[in-house]
Amino acid sequence: MKSQRIFLTGASSGIGAATARLLAEKGHRVLLISRDLKSMKSWASTCDENSVLLHEGDVTDAKAMEVAAQKMKDEWGGIDVCIPNAGIGVFSPLEEADISDWHRMIDVNIKGVLNGVHACLDSLLTNKGQVIQIGSVAARNVFPNSGVYCATKHAVLALSESLRIEFRDRLAVTTINPGAVNTAFIDQTTNSELRESYRPQFEKGMDPVFIAEAIVLAIESKGRGVFSEITVRPDNR
Ligand SMILES: NC(=O)c1ccc[n+]([C@@H]2O[C@H](COP(=O)([O-])OP(=O)(O)OC[C@H]3O[C@@H](n4cnc5c(N)ncnc54)[C@H](OP(=O)(O)O)[C@@H]3O)[C@@H](O)[C@H]2O)c1
Repeated sequence: MKSQRIFLTGASSGIGAATARLLAEKGHRVLLISRDLKSMKSWASTCDENSVLLHEGDVTDAKAMEVAAQKMKDEWGGIDVCIPNAGIGVFSPLEEADISDWHRMIDVNIKGVLNGVHACLDSLLTNKGQVIQIGSVAARNVFPNSGVYCATKHAVLALSESLRIEFRDRLAVTTINPGAVNTAFIDQTTNSELRESYRPQFEKGMDPVFIAEAIVLAIESKGRGVFSEITVRPDNR
């Protein structure tokens, strides 16, 4: 397929970094977005320099996402795929939770996704492009100690469905719902007892490259059909 121009948040680590590298290897062009320019530079140094652009920005800042999208329009003439992957999970029993952690999850996982999609939407619709959301098995199920995280991922799935229904002929929409993936994700949990009890489950989880492969499959299938939803779980679960 022709090289796609891809807007990717959360590109400094885990699933986002693995996806950036695989997309560049496949000949696509990717704008990497996160707050950590140093990590993105180190990832980008392994990629063809014509296939990556870097943007230091916070997904909770709508203006910063508009600037990032404009950079793609200026440099590459538009956007074909938006992957608002940045997300955090801060796990805690509801009764002990810090309200600022709830707000942060909503700001990054919901508002951050909306900021990315909104910034890209005009160009995506012009190009009959694609939105690939990173949901979670927590988008369809609710688990203890992660109620607000589950709520944010249910919201992500609802947004995917609304985009799919409203722009049926103009946008492909895919939600990838991973189970546990071995990334730095669990480090966000400040409740140390809970964090260390969950850590082995994440360490035994999938390699982020496996999720990147599902994302590439969703992009490169376009024209033959659309994967609306892909759930990926670790072996034997
Ligand atoms: N790991 C899992 O088991 C798992 C399972 C299901 C779904 N997911 C989802 O997968 C996505 C990626 O998570 P991951 O596992 O790859 O975690 P990760 O390794 O911790 O990566 C999270 C990424 O999000 C970025 N990010 C966080 N807050 C941000 C902000 N305010 N502005 C910009 N970027 C921000 C981080 O960049 P900086 O901090 O450098 O800015 C980092 O690049 C998330 O949406 C997560 O909910 C993960």
